[in-house]
Parts: sequence; C-alpha cells; structure tokens
Amino acid sequence: MNTTIIQRETIPTQNLSFDEFDETNTPHPQPTNFDNVVEAALSRRDFLGGVIGFGLANFIMTTSAYAKDSQNIFNFKAVPTNTFDTITLPEGFEWHVVAKWGDPLWSGTPQLDEQTGGTAKSQSKAFGDNNDGMSLFKQNGKHLLVVNNEYINKRYLFPTQKKHRPQSEDDVLKSKAAHGLSIAQIQQNDQGQWAIVKDSPLNRRVTADTPMEITGPAAGHELMQTAHDPAGLEALGTFNNCGNGQTPWGTYLTCEENFNGYFSSSDPNLTLSPAQKRYGIGHNDYGYNWASFDERFDIAKHPNEPNRFGYVVEYDPRNPNAPIKKRTKLGRFKHENAEVVLAKNGRVIVYMGDDERGEFLYKFVSRDAYEEGASTEKLLTKGTLYAAKFYQDLRGAWLPLTPETTGMSEAEICIHTRLAASKVGATTMDRPEWVAAHPEKPEVYCALTNNKYRAIKPNKGGDKTPAKGPNPRAKNIYGQIVKWTPDKDDHLETGFQWKLFALAGNPEAHQDARAGSDNINAANMFNSPDGLFFDTKGRLWIQTDGKYSNKGDFAGMGNNQMLVGNPSTGEIRRFMVGPKECEITGSCWSPDKKTLFIGIQHPGERGGSHFPLGEDHIPRSCVIAINRKDGGEI
Ligand code: FEO
Ligand code: CA
Ligand code: CA
Ligand code: CA
Repeated sequence: MNTTIIQRETIPTQNLSFDEFDETNTPHPQPTNFDNVVEAALSRRDFLGGVIGFGLANFIMTTSAYAKDSQNIFNFKAVPTNTFDTITLPEGFEWHVVAKWGDPLWSGTPQLDEQTGGTAKSQSKAFGDNNDGMSLFKQNGKHLLVVNNEYINKRYLFPTQKKHRPQSEDDVLKSKAAHGLSIAQIQQNDQGQWAIVKDSPLNRRVTADTPMEITGPAAGHELMQTAHDPAGLEALGTFNNCGNGQTPWGTYLTCEENFNGYFSSSDPNLTLSPAQKRYGIGHNDYGYNWASFDERFDIAKHPNEPNRFGYVVEYDPRNPNAPIKKRTKLGRFKHENAEVVLAKNGRVIVYMGDDERGEFLYKFVSRDAYEEGASTEKLLTKGTLYAAKFYQDLRGAWLPLTPETTGMSEAEICIHTRLAASKVGATTMDRPEWVAAHPEKPEVYCALTNNKYRAIKPNKGGDKTPAKGPNPRAKNIYGQIVKWTPDKDDHLETGFQWKLFALAGNPEAHQDARAGSDNINAANMFNSPDGLFFDTKGRLWIQTDGKYSNKGDFAGMGNNQMLVGNPSTGEIRRFMVGPKECEITGSCWSPDKKTLFIGIQHPGERGGSHFPLGEDHIPRSCVIAINRKDGGEI
C-alpha cells in the first residue's frame, strides 16, 4: 500500500460536514484581543441585550413595515414539521423521482450495484452523486436537465472500503466521475411522470477530469501554470459544483465551492502560503485521497493546481462539444451560486456569495452590454468585480476590486479574490449562500446560513467578525436572509439600502434574539437557510441545509425543508419537508410551470435513511418533480 495513504488517514472523515472537515484541517486563527473583548461584552449582558446594543430592531423588516398583501401568493396550506423518511407536501400536491445517483444515462450501463457503489466505468455513464443546483433547458421541443453533482457520500460510494476511503485508482476515478455535471434529456410519460431519456444524443457527463478552458485575466498567469499545462490555459475538470446560474444568452453557470478539500501534500512539512491558508488548502484532504492516484492533487508537487479551481464555469447546453469555460473574472472563492440580472443599460450583473464563515458577498458588472444575437464571449471576461460593505445606517456600498484599490494585479485579484476583498475592507458575512433577485423589482436577497464563530473568531484572513449590520447575532446558529435594493433601482449602481428579511430562530426555545424576527413562529421555524430562488410569480422559495436533530435549539424544526416567503408581506410558510438527514437544494421549473423540480441531497448522510427506494435500499440523492394533483400550475 502507498505510504501516503496511511499518513493521510489520521483525519476521521465520516459524519463530518464540509465545514467540520475544513475546521479540522485548517483551524481558524486564535481569537485576538479584540474578539475576547467582544465575547466578554456579550457574556456580561444577556444575548438580546448584546445585539440590541447595536440596534437590531432597526435592521429587521417588521410586519407593520410591509405593504399589505395585494394578492394571496400562497396557494397552499402550511405543512407541519416532521422527521419522516419521505417527502411531505401540502394537500393537493404530489411528487415522484426523476433521476437519482447511479441512474444510467445510457442503456449499456448497469443499474447501480448498491453492495459496491458501482465502478468508475458505471459511474462515468450514470447520474452523479449529491445533486445540487440545476436548470432545465428546452431545445427543439426537448427538455434538457443540467444538474450539478457537488460531492459524494463515501459511506455509499465505497461501502466495502475500510473507513469508506478510496483505496485504488478505480475508486478515485469513480469518485471523480460522481462529481461534476449530469446532463440528461428528460420527458414526461402518459401519467405525467418525468424520467431520463436513455441514449439521448443530448446526454453527457462532465467530471473532475473533463478538459476545460481557462478564460479571463487569470488565463496564462504564472500562478495558473502547471507541469501538465505549462501555458496555464486548460484545466482538467470541475468539482464541488454547488449552486448554479443561467445567463440571458442560454448558458448554464456551475459554481465551484469547497475545492480545497480535494488537495493534500505528500510532504508533511510543506510550508503553506498565506493564500493557501486563506483558502483552506492544507496538508490533508477531506478523505478523497485523489492525490494518491492522481499527482496533480498533491500540492507539494503541483502547488498551482488548486489555483485552477474555485471559479464559475460556463457550459453551453446547445453546443455540448464546445469548450467549457472557467470564468476567472468572476473571482476565485467558495462559490455558492451565480445570480445573473441585467442592469438598465444591458450590462450583465452577477451576484455571488462566498460560503465560508466571515467571507464576503460579491457583485460582477460586465464592461459591455448584452445584446441579443451579438457575441457573448467577453461578457464574463471583461468588467469589474466588487465586494459588499454594509453600514449600520442600513446603507451599503459595492467596493471595486481593482489594481488601484488592492495593490494587486488584475490576474491576482481573480486568483486570490479573498485577499483582495480583505484589502478593501469588505464586510465579513455569516456564510453567504444563494443569492436570488426578484424577477420584477430591483430587490436582491441572500441567505446567510449561520456562523457559530460570529463575534468569536476572525475569518481565515484575520478580518474581524463583529456582531453588526446584517450579521447581528454572535454565535449565530440559525442564520438570516438579507435583502438589498440598489440605488436608483438600477443594479449598476454601487450604493444600496439593506434590511433583514428574516432572522431565523426558535421562538419556542428562546425569548432573546435567538427567537428570530417577527415573521418566524412555531409553525414555520427553520434553521440555516441556503437555497434561495424566486419564481415568476414573485414568491421567494427558501431551502434549508441545517441541523435536523429536532432537539434543544432545533426542537420543532424537524428535517430540512422548503418554505415560501412573500417578499411584500414578510409572511413565510412551509411548503415541504424532506426525508431524514437530507438537505434540500437546487430547483428549476418546467416551461409550463406545472412541474417544480427540487434536489434532495444526501438523504441518510449519517446512515439513517432509505430514501427514496425504501427499506431494503441504500439512500440516494435525487431530483424530484412536484406537481399539483389537479394538473394546474404550481
Ligand atoms: Fe454547497 Fe454552500 O453549499
Ligand atoms: Ca448550499
Ligand atoms: Ca449550506
Ligand atoms: Ca450539502
């Protein structure tokens, strides 16, 4: 056995979230004196007193501040919380599975072998694991589903391996093939159920080994050059594809999130650079073991390889053989999703969160305007990247990241974006997850999922994380949703007004700020908002990726869930409860709005589910379709 495997086997990798892995591998800096002062201040007063000192009430939209609801956008009765191992929907709705991990996309490929988790060969021809963001495209009358496969459930992908750890080259190839994108034609049968069309010429897999073009200012830069690609222009693969986005010109954006967890060092004494530390790249991977069989993941030998991941990647479903493009101009960080809107003058705006405790919220503005029919090649390679600053007076500003403001070159800003945003003093956030823009109003929302280190520790760059502004609670275990309105109602503007749309919490368990905002009650409480999207009717859908213990601070919240928010009234109502130990993430609509596709990620991540096939089966991440029983629009 390769000795590097043994060396790297010191981290327990089962039952740990990405966050927890990251924390084990690259602990946050020790609290500074300033942080001790903040913590002391909080412990001297009660929790609510601490935040009220910052004027919390002013930051939150209150019921009276909302406009009267002009139309009832909730056409369903709220679903109570539960801990069942299935999907629960309001009366009048039904669901079915469209595609699940291991489903063959081609007829020559066997069904998933649940005893072994399949092989590299079978996985490379099948639907990937842990589906996340997704979009549905209609082309020449056919429906094409493009889905991110974020990461893997080692427990089920490697059921027979010691500690479920990949031990062979085939294991690692299987793991790589379970990541990336699954692209499949789907169609409805006579009963209205959607399923994969096997052997469709539109079907495709993109994996952690698929060649793709590096574009934008970082292309060819020395930090992007490797032994395998001395020009720094072609990366192999995309992985940890979390949220997504869609452009007005019909392409799909897939966002690389926790890319750091796949790299490790064969030299245990390797000195890590400040940039590597900031991005959580360390001596140990998160248990993937890719470096043992693919040297490019060994940072002792190939220090620049990680610089080629952490981007937004553009895929054109109409041209499946065209190069897939990494858009370095949109910055390198732990990208959640990419919410694209057009400014009044047609310039392309992309809102993006960096999902890590104390990291930042970003906005890209293209140099050129989008014009239908004109070339779109430069729209995501030329422009300005900004990081958000939130002030206590409910104002905010987008701070440009340029050579002048950061002292870094344009390419360096694209590669070490976090360092650039620290230099301009952007606001450290409580893990920005999905950003969603209202379809008709200039309003943008972002889920700040949680941050147990708020006011306790700085971020990995040493930036302070005071409990202030849109991140008002120390040791924030519940999360919140912030909204902002750009000045002059134009996304091009660099100034904005902000407010908290909801502060998640548990009003049954707590009477202080942990009870949450006015619009949170015993009937709709949840924790850790993550997926966020608007539909064309202006409803804000909220998906959760939180604690599902249903005990203590989380009592009464049940399994992870999906809710609907009314942006005008602030009312939030639960629409769906997921199966055990899952996260709800990703969504898209059929063109007729009669089907809502939703992602069920990692049911049974700790071994406690059999969803969706039941009792005698292992759990499998899947895409489900939700319909009204009467066949109407959702
Ligand atoms: Fe992949 Fe931040 O969620
Ligand atoms: Ca997420
Ligand atoms: Ca999350
Ligand atoms: Ca997840």
